[in-house]
Amino acid sequence: MASFAFLTLSLLSGQALAKVCTNVTIPVNINAHQPQFNLAPLQVNQDATRFALNFTNIGRNFTNEIFAGNFADVRGVYNISAKYCTPDVQKANPTVQFLTHGIGFDKSYWDLPFNNYNYSYIDVATAAGFSTVSIDRFGIGNSSKADPLNVVQAPAEVSAMYEITNMLRNGTFPTVAHKFQKVVHVGHSFGSAQTNMLVTLHPQASDGIVLTGWSINGTWLGQTLADWNLHLARLNQPLRFGNVSLAAKRGQNGQNKYKGQNGQNGHRNEDGSVNGYVSNSDLIQTIENALGLLGVEASASDIWQEIATTEVGDIINGWNETLAPPQNLPTGYLTWSDLTANIFAFLYPGFFEDAISLFAEKTKQPVTLGEILTLAGPIAPNKFAGPVQVVTGRQDQIYCGGDCLATGTQLPSIPAAAQVLFPNASAFQAYIHPNTGHGLNFHYNATGAYHVIQQWFQSHNLGSS
Ligand SMILES: *[C@@H]1O[C@H](CO)[C@@H](O)[C@H](O)[C@H]1NC(C)=O
Ligand SMILES: *[C@@H]1O[C@H](CO)[C@@H](O)[C@H](O)[C@H]1NC(C)=O
Ligand SMILES: *[C@@H]1O[C@H](CO)[C@@H](O)[C@H](O)[C@H]1NC(C)=O
Ligand SMILES: *[C@@H]1O[C@H](CO)[C@@H](O)[C@H](O)[C@H]1NC(C)=O
Ligand SMILES: *[C@@H]1O[C@H](CO)[C@@H](O)[C@H](O)[C@H]1NC(C)=O
Ligand SMILES: *[C@@H]1O[C@H](CO)[C@@H](O)[C@H](O)[C@H]1NC(C)=O
Ligand SMILES: *[C@@H]1O[C@H](CO)[C@@H](O)[C@H](O)[C@H]1NC(C)=O
Ligand SMILES: *[C@@H]1O[C@H](CO)[C@@H](O)[C@H](O)[C@H]1NC(C)=O
Ligand SMILES: *[C@@H]1O[C@H](CO)[C@@H](O)[C@H](O)[C@H]1NC(C)=O
Ligand SMILES: *[C@@H]1O[C@H](CO)[C@@H](O)[C@H](O)[C@H]1NC(C)=O
Ligand SMILES: *[C@@H]1O[C@H](CO)[C@@H](O)[C@H](O)[C@H]1NC(C)=O
Ligand SMILES: *[C@@H]1O[C@H](CO)[C@@H](O)[C@H](O)[C@H]1NC(C)=O
Repeated sequence: MASFAFLTLSLLSGQALAKVCTNVTIPVNINAHQPQFNLAPLQVNQDATRFALNFTNIGRNFTNEIFAGNFADVRGVYNISAKYCTPDVQKANPTVQFLTHGIGFDKSYWDLPFNNYNYSYIDVATAAGFSTVSIDRFGIGNSSKADPLNVVQAPAEVSAMYEITNMLRNGTFPTVAHKFQKVVHVGHSFGSAQTNMLVTLHPQASDGIVLTGWSINGTWLGQTLADWNLHLARLNQPLRFGNVSLAAKRGQNGQNKYKGQNGQNGHRNEDGSVNGYVSNSDLIQTIENALGLLGVEASASDIWQEIATTEVGDIINGWNETLAPPQNLPTGYLTWSDLTANIFAFLYPGFFEDAISLFAEKTKQPVTLGEILTLAGPIAPNKFAGPVQVVTGRQDQIYCGGDCLATGTQLPSIPAAAQVLFPNASAFQAYIHPNTGHGLNFHYNATGAYHVIQQWFQSHNLGSS
């Protein structure tokens, strides 16, 4: 187990507040009963397309078609990478928020370093007195990887959440001796679906849940998968997810072995904007030269488009950066094709910074076949007795088709329909946050939603005291 602590200063309402954070790697005993699927290993990008077609074809239940007919127990100790944060001045009886990210992200979703942490959920939660634990879900980010079809599925991920929740309650969470009396759970998207699975299986596990970027309406799942234009993660971002050596990345002895022959400037991007995305100027030069050799007349803005908004940007991402070695992920780890697919699914145009969308694409995380096949989880009433808040951006494409208020019925919003799952909840609210798409935390007014969530917990007697 590795750990270290650091301080981040943040300015909120003119008052200096600090959070204190620790990185921990937690060995977790995962124990889950999971459906087994028969599917030949994907080999090339076109197989990801065939999978998406199989999965979305109307009148077809592909999950059922490839179900092997049996469930298997996944048991073992796996590492979960987590970040634990507290306010610099802690209360005697702190509440800890357990934060679970969605598809395409990792735990940094809750503490975005972008623009000096201006979009950090954890900054707002700690300023409101909460402690937080954000995890890389099992199979994702710096947590252990495993077979992407039959092992990295929702039930195993929920099992890890349950074990870590117990550690927080019984005082065995690494580096934290405290036995938390109150543990609440906040999810985003698939992380919300998993939070719902957690309290369905273990109604006592949580004292209160907030499900962001979520509804129980699966109508737009097909169009989302179509938008994603799924590719093998290892081919889409080879320098992060593939099988290339760092020597190959950088060239022998610091030479760029892929340098273009021409060596002339060609159509250099004068404003340097490409460099905000891809920092290797030699590589940009090479692409410019290649376009030039093909006789393509391209303006600086055309070149920016060719690199940043297409898969070219994904392929060269990480070229000139000191990153962990590429993860050499199995082919069952997939990702969407490029920035434009990312924007369609996650962002509401006009209400986010271009630079944060580039940041999101550059730091994106993959999704496994097993996760897609176990995405929905139990959509049945559960016994959870604490308060439940659903917070979804009004323009959420994935869970609301682009307008959470377009119900066409007396139902106040599409996420409001989720109330049927929580007949025993002490309180239920579906809050629709304005001018925001699915990736809530990347929008201008992200902190507006964060405050709504802290107030919900506090007004239901779940604040730190
Ligand atoms: C701790 O994790 C953060 C990302 O979550 C990373 O930026 C930082 O470098 C890590 N520190 C160490 C020492 O691993
Ligand atoms: C798609 O479905 C066909 C059967 O219709 C099957 O043969 C094929 O293996 C499937 N491919 C993928 C990648 O899902
Ligand atoms: C597909 O089949 C599975 C297993 O029989 C079932 O649980 C699921 O509800 C079906 N999905 C749809 C959309 O009909
Ligand atoms: C967990 O991490 C430790 C080192 O931190 C390593 O020895 C062990 O092999 C890892 N376990 C798994 C399942 O990856
Ligand atoms: C931080 O975000 C707020 C809106 O939440 C914005 O008004 C402010 O300009 C941003 N600050 C920086 C440094 O980006
Ligand atoms: C994963 O580990 C690498 C290398 O230590 C670090 O650079 C990165 O920030 C970590 N990412 C997360 C999400 O913890
Ligand atoms: C605390 O919870 C963890 C996770 O469920 C478990 O492995 C451990 O045995 C528990 N320890 C104590 C002292 O109860
Ligand atoms: C990764 O690359 C090495 C050396 O190029 C090769 O031997 C190995 O088979 C590759 N592994 C995979 C999974 O492609
Ligand atoms: C990486 O980029 C920096 C500037 O961003 C540049 O000084 C350096 O030479 C580049 N390194 C390589 C190997 O291209
Ligand atoms: C609902 O909650 C109450 C306590 O608030 C409890 O007594 C009851 O057993 C719960 N019902 C179900 C079905 O879980
Ligand atoms: C999903 O929402 C749409 C639009 O409001 C509605 O027409 C449809 O009936 C809903 N589907 C379900 C299963 O609730
Ligand atoms: C920001 O979010 C809060 C909470 O949803 C909302 O009340 C406020 O109107 C939003 N502001 C803007 C400018 O959209």
